[in-house]
Amino acid sequence: MQSPPKAALWSLSRLRCLLLWPKSSGQPEKLRPTAYLDGLRGFAAFLVYWHHHELWPRPPNKTNILEEGFGFENNHYFVAYPGIRNFFGGGHFAVSTFFVISGYVLSAKPLSLIQAGDQAKLADNLSSALFRRWLRLYIPLICTTFLFMTSWHAFGLWIEATKPQATYGAEIWHWYTQVKNFTFIFNSGSVPWLTYNFHLWSIPVEFKGSIVIYTALLAFSRCTKNARLLCTVFLLFYFMYIVDGWYCALFTAGMLLCDLDQLAAKDELPSFLNRLQPFKTIIFYHLLVISLYLGGVPVHGTDINNLAKNRGWYYLSYLKPQAFFDYKWFYLWWAAVLLVASTPRISWLKRFFETSFCQYLGRVSFSLYLVHGPVLWTLGDRLYSAVGLARGQEQVVHIAKWVNIFPLPMTGPFGLEVAFLVPHLILLPVTFYCAEVVTRAFDEPSVKFPQWLFQRTLGRPAKIPQ
Ligand SMILES: *[C@@H]1O[C@H](CO)[C@@H](O)[C@H](O)[C@H]1NC(C)=O
Ligand SMILES: *[C@@H]1O[C@H](CO)[C@@H](O)[C@H](O)[C@H]1NC(C)=O
Repeated sequence: MQSPPKAALWSLSRLRCLLLWPKSSGQPEKLRPTAYLDGLRGFAAFLVYWHHHELWPRPPNKTNILEEGFGFENNHYFVAYPGIRNFFGGGHFAVSTFFVISGYVLSAKPLSLIQAGDQAKLADNLSSALFRRWLRLYIPLICTTFLFMTSWHAFGLWIEATKPQATYGAEIWHWYTQVKNFTFIFNSGSVPWLTYNFHLWSIPVEFKGSIVIYTALLAFSRCTKNARLLCTVFLLFYFMYIVDGWYCALFTAGMLLCDLDQLAAKDELPSFLNRLQPFKTIIFYHLLVISLYLGGVPVHGTDINNLAKNRGWYYLSYLKPQAFFDYKWFYLWWAAVLLVASTPRISWLKRFFETSFCQYLGRVSFSLYLVHGPVLWTLGDRLYSAVGLARGQEQVVHIAKWVNIFPLPMTGPFGLEVAFLVPHLILLPVTFYCAEVVTRAFDEPSVKFPQWLFQRTLGRPAKIPQ
């Protein structure tokens, strides 16, 4: 046992590691072959941050500029131009990309075991993966929403879209009833988001998609190569064209890409794909352009007739499968799949995602996702109000002290106005600092703890591979 002063010193040094920049990590690590996927995920997480900020301080009739296509209702803005628009309103594109990457990464190890015919190791691997998945996804969510809820209750911070409970006890109960429903993916009777952090709707979706991947891998694990590929393609077709399984289709596509990549590395691709090899580069440049175009699908509402009214989308609107309710996911499926497929085959793009900037974004991506909303709704809302970009009447009533105390000019193109950009001198460092702390405090432990726990549940002397 540690003596009390020693324990205090130890906790203090832990706290210092947690809160102080930078992390002394020593030598830079060698990049993994799939490091570009981490970089892509990180960059995509940053686009989610940027998208939510672009929307927040603008009235609804202005956000349409980003959410409808270029030229819609005679609005011609730089930020809405095809290709460019992905950098300003690319949040949904980013989320679709997360899911394809997840499907790819989750299936990498199991697929290599399946291809090697190693059934015993596959069983070990899948059991460990399934055991850990829920904990890995939900521990950070539970901890961060609890802290967020506690902090604004303790400091009496006003936050739009939340109704504070009378007491902290009632608040905890309110939080608890929401979070517990949120962790139960088979619950169909409650709203699919948390009022404590709306953006986290994608976490249960991530968990569901993971289960689709692990079960599909297990189901196809005894098939021959061609049968496995055919079954995967059929599953994709089912999710895309027969039922509205958009997120299942995104995950499954990642799994298929991973299978094909691993086969290609061993020169075992089906022969018709092999014949395309000489034209690889030119093909993937085209696919990238198509991806960037489709990634900019107008996302205002779910009415396909509205999509058809957007310039450049009339004929494309006929492609939507009958089964899809929210058409955007159909186009985003293609966009995300083509992006993930073409990135490793276009060398400058791959190198960009391997830069230390993108790798850093990748390391903190989950935490950035978890904290960017709360920082926006607390600090962001107040800073935007201060510079003259109050979101609406509610801000004028509830945070009156902040409104217009430091008005800045709206010079600059839409989406890049001075008044909008200046608050980011504070918001970016604060958000990234919070993301770094959450990475160290919750994200990394939520990977290690389930591993430790899983090992503890095994009877000795079983040895389970990672
Ligand atoms: C957009 O909404 C604001 C208030 O939210 C209003 O003042 C403005 O006139 C509207 N603009 C248009 C073009 O409808
Ligand atoms: C939780 O789920 C149950 C059962 O579906 C539902 O009745 C209840 O209203 C939900 N609670 C919340 C806070 O969403």
